[in-house]
Amino acid sequence: MTIAPDKTTTSEIPVPEGHVKLTIDGEEVIAPKGELLIRTAERLGTVIPRFCDHPLLDPAGACRQCLVEVEMGGRPMPKPQASCTMTVADGMVVKTQLTSPVADKAQQGVMELLLINHPLDCPICDKGGECPLQNQALAHGRTDSRFVDTKRTFAKPLPISSQVLLDRERCVLCQRCTRFSAQIAGDPFIELLERGAHQQIGTAETADVLDLASRTTSGEPFQSYFSGNVIQICPVGALTSAAYRFRSRPFDLVSSPSVCEHCSSGCDERTDFRRGKIQRKLAGDDPEVNEEWLCDKGRFAFRYVQADDRIRRPLVRNAAGELEEASWTDALRIASEGLLKARDGKGAAVLTGGRLTVEDAYAYSKFARIALRTNDIDFRARPHSDEELAFLSSAVVGTTPETGVTFGEIERARTVLCVAFEPEDEAPIVFLRLRKAARKNRTRVVHLGQWTTSSVRKTFGELLACVPGGEAAAVDGIAQHAADVDTALSGDGAVVLVGERAAEIPGLFSALQRLSARTGARLAWIPRRAGDRGALETGCVPTLLPGGRPVTDAAARAEVEKQWGVELPASPGRDVTGILEAASGGQLDALVVGGVDPNDLPDPDLARRALDNAGFVVSLELRASEVTERADVVLPVAPSVEKAGSYLNWEGRRRAFDITLEGTGSLPDGRVLDTLAVEMDADLFTQTPAASAADLSRLSKHPNVALGASDAPNATLGASDAPNATLGRSEPGPGQAVLATWRQLIDNGSLQDGEPHLKGTQRTPVARLSAKTAEGLGTTVKVATERGSITLPVEVADLPDGVVWLPGNSDGSAVRAALAAGHGALVQISGGDQ
Ligand code: SF4
Ligand code: FES
Repeated sequence: MTIAPDKTTTSEIPVPEGHVKLTIDGEEVIAPKGELLIRTAERLGTVIPRFCDHPLLDPAGACRQCLVEVEMGGRPMPKPQASCTMTVADGMVVKTQLTSPVADKAQQGVMELLLINHPLDCPICDKGGECPLQNQALAHGRTDSRFVDTKRTFAKPLPISSQVLLDRERCVLCQRCTRFSAQIAGDPFIELLERGAHQQIGTAETADVLDLASRTTSGEPFQSYFSGNVIQICPVGALTSAAYRFRSRPFDLVSSPSVCEHCSSGCDERTDFRRGKIQRKLAGDDPEVNEEWLCDKGRFAFRYVQADDRIRRPLVRNAAGELEEASWTDALRIASEGLLKARDGKGAAVLTGGRLTVEDAYAYSKFARIALRTNDIDFRARPHSDEELAFLSSAVVGTTPETGVTFGEIERARTVLCVAFEPEDEAPIVFLRLRKAARKNRTRVVHLGQWTTSSVRKTFGELLACVPGGEAAAVDGIAQHAADVDTALSGDGAVVLVGERAAEIPGLFSALQRLSARTGARLAWIPRRAGDRGALETGCVPTLLPGGRPVTDAAARAEVEKQWGVELPASPGRDVTGILEAASGGQLDALVVGGVDPNDLPDPDLARRALDNAGFVVSLELRASEVTERADVVLPVAPSVEKAGSYLNWEGRRRAFDITLEGTGSLPDGRVLDTLAVEMDADLFTQTPAASAADLSRLSKHPNVALGASDAPNATLGASDAPNATLGRSEPGPGQAVLATWRQLIDNGSLQDGEPHLKGTQRTPVARLSAKTAEGLGTTVKVATERGSITLPVEVADLPDGVVWLPGNSDGSAVRAALAAGHGALVQISGGDQ
């Protein structure tokens, strides 16, 4: 409990348990035991100047800027004390710079020393205008400098990665960057090197290049998915962004609160733009979600919005078979004619991707039901299964932060089991919480996976090794092969996190639901994309209407029919694969596609055939793609910064944002669909995100539909799948291996286009195998299926024998596109050098 300081009543109220009473600048304060003095003073409204202090980093006492006078038991301490490292104590008397000339002089002295070697390059420094050193020098520094000698200089800037540049002479040695890297991200590659006047931060590479006497302890190059945070928290301009350097001054920027569009965490961000162009993104402060951090993808991947291939005008295929620009009126008329014809023929279906806001997803869901009169709609533009849909319908839809697992619950959990989920790559902010939980609360983190990945190491985790595809058997047999984990999962505060890859593993969702029912562990689904959870809740699946209402439940359907004023189709629609098979086989006359990349789908060639054979394709897209290439009508839509809306993050938490770039003329998907529906004589009421949200809100309350036990997935495995942590479903023969794969955070995803500095930080693509499996292969391995092959350098890791891991979509390793195979598939392996 924290008791806010109260000037009039504090002396009368008793000190609650776990608290102490002290005096700051003559005012009595009650504070929780263990609180740092600098925080207690802050609550009292007194800001003590600081550089190294950061509420989310362990105290360091490095810069000495926060000195205050302290008296204990009536005896003053001999020297001013750092208020960022000293905790409150009963009877303590503290005087800050406001009441103590000693503290004030000490702070001025420290500031003077810091400025001795600090260059006066504020006019060209990126931090100028938002620099804590600049601000505090003004507020607490001396008005003149007594230093007359030559300042220390260094060669500058030093790139410590392709996106972080270091100007060493600006550094005040506060160690925020080194502590962030070591404590929060778990990437301790940036360290304090050398001593005295030559002390500087550096990496293994800078130490080498500069031939310093000291070297980093890890000896590894700077590589981190979270490196942009050090730029943001550096209190001077010592660390700057290669992408932003010299592009703008803070006071020229317009800032807009925003929400990250890249993954299902839904991070709070601030987007800064100038003259209609985004210049940078900064982490917002949301203690419930991303605290004050962002991953580098969320921070730096925004240039796709300005890509040359952005579609700005509607396109219509002409008689010569080429796409040509058309007016909105013509494009919408042609699209509506084609879709009406298809609807009255063999039907039309809707495929959406993961980029949709809740409001846009609702528009697609309603468009499919009202304008196309079909339940053929699916947002899962990736591997998917009926079992997954049953799981999402019975265990995910409708959960909220009040009822489901949250970031906070992960942090407080005693045990977390990650299954088919690589947190650092697939949900980096979940990874940071897991690491924080393990570091601060000793949470036991167990990963059911293939090898000791960096997520396993950095969450101080344990690996339960399993062949890809063997996860379901491993979960079912966990009590036998990992009895201690099973016991931990049966205790209080146990959480199981499952990733979207589980859809590729038959029986896994069922096994997890059995595990959760048996042990009481709380189960959460963490998809990869920002729009997935919203698409589920709004009914972008063939079996559910908005609010999780089953299409086959007459009462639930009637609620939607009453709201929408139409009769709805009562039988479940086809899923993505069903839609693609029907379209390629001529059983569907049209497709409406929004944000789908064929190479994300289980069978990219099937997707291409479906688009070619569908007869009529309407594509709602940001940029030219394989879908627009094949579409009859292309309708341009707005990226997230050019529209308002909201995402539902994996917790089911609504993450609303307003428009950032106004006046671009681009329209949200919901608006385009609304107008198209009017052409088709149907009303969606989704002409604005607000209208769409209002219409949805009348349906979003979860209906009173009880899902029976039969609705939960219940796949059981055959005897051959007996639980075995190291054996899987498919026994590879000679020259074969079972494929493990997922996408890395920084890869060739289309939303990362146009940002070379970010791309420079992607992990080097390698194929990982056990030493035994790699025997005789040489330095590279060729991984092949009948569709194609991938050749990558070999890296030996602790995988089970007979398994090969490939990055899902990195340079030279586009697994779906090249192999048309996924996690758990049997592949051929041979030496790539031969
Ligand atoms: Fe502090 Fe910035 Fe220097 Fe790192 S580079 S020690 S964050 S001043
Ligand atoms: Fe206290 Fe740096 S803020 S020593």
